[in-house]
Amino acid sequence: MTKGSMKIGVAGLGTVGSGLCRLIQDNGHLLTQRCGRRLLISAVSARDRRKDRGLNLEGARWFEDPVAMASDPELDVIVEVIGGADGVARETVEAALTAGKSVVTANKALLAEHGTALAHLAEAQGVTLAYEAAVAGGIPAIKALREGLAGNRIQRVHGILNGTCNYILSTMRDSGREFGEVLAEAQKLGYAEADPSMDVDGIDAAHKLAIITALAFGCEVDFNAIHVEGIRRISTIDIAYAEELGFRIKLLGIAQRRDGTVEQRVHPCLVPHNAPIASVEGVFNAVHVEADFVGRVLIEGPGAGEKPTASAVAADLMDLARGTAIPTFGVASSDLEKLPSLSMEDHRGAYYLRLLVLDEPGVIADVAAALRDEDISVEAMVQRGRAPGEAVPVVIVTHETSEAQIQRSLARIEALESNLESPRMIRIEGS
Ligand SMILES: NC(=O)c1ccc[n+]([C@@H]2O[C@H](COP(=O)([O-])OP(=O)(O)OC[C@H]3O[C@@H](n4cnc5c(N)ncnc54)[C@H](OP(=O)(O)O)[C@@H]3O)[C@@H](O)[C@H]2O)c1
Repeated sequence: MTKGSMKIGVAGLGTVGSGLCRLIQDNGHLLTQRCGRRLLISAVSARDRRKDRGLNLEGARWFEDPVAMASDPELDVIVEVIGGADGVARETVEAALTAGKSVVTANKALLAEHGTALAHLAEAQGVTLAYEAAVAGGIPAIKALREGLAGNRIQRVHGILNGTCNYILSTMRDSGREFGEVLAEAQKLGYAEADPSMDVDGIDAAHKLAIITALAFGCEVDFNAIHVEGIRRISTIDIAYAEELGFRIKLLGIAQRRDGTVEQRVHPCLVPHNAPIASVEGVFNAVHVEADFVGRVLIEGPGAGEKPTASAVAADLMDLARGTAIPTFGVASSDLEKLPSLSMEDHRGAYYLRLLVLDEPGVIADVAAALRDEDISVEAMVQRGRAPGEAVPVVIVTHETSEAQIQRSLARIEALESNLESPRMIRIEGS
């Protein structure tokens, strides 16, 4: 890296790239004071050169091809904010690392799919791959895990990792409106994409969880090991029952060490009202860490958007300007462990079940038998109203059991003649 200004090439001038340019424009002096070097945007690349982005990019060279920019010898650092696990984003990052340049990226999909290989490449080249903006946007979650809590053995991390889902669930609860209607409104407000599946099907949260897991446990990134469920099947009736039982429904990403294995899951959860994460509302994200010396730490903040994400990218750039170099996932890439993953069947926890059954004699006994035969004990059961011969919802909260036992008993309940629709199951997370 040259002395004096740190010359940055920015690949992608969308939400994050433009935000970074504005941050450096507005706060450049402060950044120089804090890291002792000027951060200079020397080159940029995007698809459409003519697009008015409201940015002053005077003095920055334009590259049609971000991959060519990545290996330009004039540049010290490349910021990749194009997006996508493969294609031009991956080529840009690989070209920059191969050319001996450190990279800052906000690209969680890329890291979730190729994080281990990229960590090896960065280490072999003696450069840094930084990605604070890739997880939980403006919250300094990566720095907290990798540096602030580096003295701890981390047992469990869970978080609200997708603001779109949290906004939808919060709004469904507040307004009593169903998923589809709230999603359409979120799309109008710009909180959800036209194609919402990355968010509402849990994939975006799983990308972030894969990164968190590697960092928390010093293991290889293993996106494919994550059990992923989204929020499409959550209905206001479940939200209302959960509230009545003392819970809030959240889409969580959870990473946990268990007996030499790693459990990684993204799915809707019932969390107790008094759990700190239950009160994280709207588009906000939160990351909750449990570690041996510090105990529990919760950090909360804006998980996306131009300014919060730019703030995270700037923090990484300032580290590079100061010469701070930390291995990609906190340990040398050769030391990243290949940890076996816990199969979802072996997950243990309590469960919320909602059935729709005929209100007739013997039905509850049949349901109770399906649970009893799998050694599942019931903590609470709610049946509202009386409608002989008609459909009634029955809600059950179980004590701790295994996923395999729950799935077997649900299959048996579903096969009952008195059962009218596929039972709903939502896992309960202690805190
Ligand atoms: N948005 C957020 O709040 C947020 C938060 C955290 C992380 N991230 C991550 O940050 C990354 C960028 O997200 P974003 O929201 O800023 O995306 P975006 O608004 O869609 O911007 C993407 C940028 O990449 C450029 N681009 C696309 N293909 C290109 C190519 N072949 N060559 C050169 N440039 C190309 C686009 O150019 P044009 O402008 O000319 O089309 C655009 O400027 C993604 O990995 C995303 O997951 C975003």
